[in-house]
Amino acid sequence: MRTVKTIAEVRARIALWRSQGQRIAFVPTMGNLHTGHMSLVQRAGQLADHVVASVFVNPMQFGANEDLASYPRTLTEDAAKLAENRVSLLFVPDTGEIYPRGVDDATRVEVPGLSDILCGAYRPGHFTGVATVVNMLFNIVQPDMALFGEKDYQQLLVIRRMVADLCLPVQVLGVPTVREPDGLAMSSRNSYLSAEERARAPRLYQALCEARDRIAGGETNYEVIERAGMQALSGAGFRADYFSVRRAEDLIPASPEDRALVILAAAWLGKARLIDNLRMELSRN
Ligand code: PAF
Repeated sequence: MRTVKTIAEVRARIALWRSQGQRIAFVPTMGNLHTGHMSLVQRAGQLADHVVASVFVNPMQFGANEDLASYPRTLTEDAAKLAENRVSLLFVPDTGEIYPRGVDDATRVEVPGLSDILCGAYRPGHFTGVATVVNMLFNIVQPDMALFGEKDYQQLLVIRRMVADLCLPVQVLGVPTVREPDGLAMSSRNSYLSAEERARAPRLYQALCEARDRIAGGETNYEVIERAGMQALSGAGFRADYFSVRRAEDLIPASPEDRALVILAAAWLGKARLIDNLRMELSRN
């Protein structure tokens, strides 16, 4: 695996592979890689001749009071894991390489609507930061396909919308969430949990499962489900931002006629803001 820091080095390597007619899969990350990231990389390796990964903690997607400074940075370990998993090229730009005029003066990509609800309502500007950096990374790497975890379901939809609206020639693939044995979705931010919080954290997934089971059992009043979800979380000591039943396609609040649903939740446990979701397909008439 070759590790490079500049756009010019990425472009040179991509041009070589393109001239040989080879297919490229891209896995953008912010590092601190866990088994969830590795499932993206492994899937990418099954689909293309070359896997390109990036590690860049993108300042544009962090709010002023968020965890940019303390976000875990573990590049040596990350590079070792990627090399073991058939990654051909690792791109680790400095902030100046991506934002040469500074973050505040950079051109932005905005995906209106989808970026302003759910997590976007609690993290203003977050999805503009994500869309902007992913658009830049797509332009730099020019992959045939890019893989993203379904744990960040809203992010996945924002990126899909951006790709469709801007006619970007990249296939965006979602990869299922990887969970710890007790159900907790894998996330770099799980490392912020104390031992006692970590023991309580799977309650988030359990609350989503309870909601899914009630809906599967015929409950159609989604406001009742959402209130029960919020109560389950506060009862377990979380400070919930939202617990919501939405249409899987576009995250509009679900109505009883909708069939493809996603139940999403975001909640704080100590210093960690955890997010998770469950998708479900209803077959009833
Ligand atoms: O999901 C992430 O790790 C980040 O939001 C991404 C897609 C790499 C953009 O910085």
